[in-house]
Amino acid sequence: MSKMRAVLIKGGQGPIENLYLGETDKPVPTKGQVLVKIVAFGLNRMDLLQRQGGYPVPPGASSILGVEFSGRVTELGEGVTRWAIGDEVFGLAGGGAYAEFLNCDEGLLLKKPGHLSWVEAASIPENYITAYQALVKYGEVKKGDHVLVHAGASGVGLAAIQMARESGAATVTATASTTEKLEWLRSIPNGATHTVNYRTEDFAAEVGKTTNGRGVDIVIDFVGQSHWAKNIQSLAIDGRMIMLATLSGNEVPSVNLGQILYKRLRIQGSTLRSRSSEYQTELIARFRDFVDKLTGANGGGPIRTYIHKVYPWTEIQSAHHEMADNKNSGKIIVEIQ
Ligand SMILES: NC(=O)c1ccc[n+]([C@@H]2O[C@H](COP(=O)([O-])OP(=O)(O)OC[C@H]3O[C@@H](n4cnc5c(N)ncnc54)[C@H](OP(=O)(O)O)[C@@H]3O)[C@@H](O)[C@H]2O)c1
Repeated sequence: MSKMRAVLIKGGQGPIENLYLGETDKPVPTKGQVLVKIVAFGLNRMDLLQRQGGYPVPPGASSILGVEFSGRVTELGEGVTRWAIGDEVFGLAGGGAYAEFLNCDEGLLLKKPGHLSWVEAASIPENYITAYQALVKYGEVKKGDHVLVHAGASGVGLAAIQMARESGAATVTATASTTEKLEWLRSIPNGATHTVNYRTEDFAAEVGKTTNGRGVDIVIDFVGQSHWAKNIQSLAIDGRMIMLATLSGNEVPSVNLGQILYKRLRIQGSTLRSRSSEYQTELIARFRDFVDKLTGANGGGPIRTYIHKVYPWTEIQSAHHEMADNKNSGKIIVEIQ
């Protein structure tokens, strides 16, 4: 079997120091799959959890970290019709992007437009498709909506803020933990119209003021426990809350069900990685229309991808430290040499 280099974890799981560049089997594309030579991959919070053994790898997926990438098609499995060798692509994977080569179902790939660099393309799939699913598919965002986005400076948060503005939201309030992040979120094109430091201010009271007491139509939440009561308070009649993570904890000691009933709230959990390839293929087909609107930070598009820092893959440990310390505004990307 041919070999390739990949980022591996000593002992299969563990702290950042267990990450190393090693050798493993090169994947072989089977029916409907495409082999991609990776140029760059994006870091996601779930990579940190998976490294520590706290994130289940979907059945059939590679146990190597990494769910998004950009690269070139180098081999085609049987029956692949959409792609040719040499095509420049980016896409989603169930795992395996921290490697020289990755096997991917053909429907999970997108054509890399010329106006996106390899780094920019690798920064898009997980964040923008997650935000698209939450805001457009489940949140049914429409012109005039008021939207609240937590973890506003996270990769997914940034995507959701811009998509909400591009969809005609009347206000988009973002929360984060530092003045620098909040100022930056207000300064970017199609950025937040209002911001709240959730550590020092009451975001429910703030969105109450911003919406003249009406509340927000959509909450994009990643925080769970600590934000639950204020999220419910923040929502308007017929509001929708889409839960993408529970960063502060899963359990809420006391829940006022009356608010959910009388405000006719819809609370929707949403995951992406665990969904079937067929589901993701269909979602990506819908998302394709959005790709033309996406540019790099200085690309002039209505929706932009912001790169926090780019690391060579020899410095994968530093990249994980940067995310673990919550230092990023935008994406951390790793390039393969
Ligand atoms: N369900 C899905 O389909 C799906 C898909 C992709 C990602 N996600 C989840 O979405 C979240 C963001 O992912 P990402 O890769 O974009 O992460 P990221 O860029 O690393 O950002 C995460 C941010 O969340 C904030 N945060 C962390 N702990 C918090 C807490 N206890 N309370 C409030 N805020 C907290 C921090 O910023 P501040 O504290 O400054 O706000 C942190 O920088 C992750 O939890 C990830 O697992 C879910």
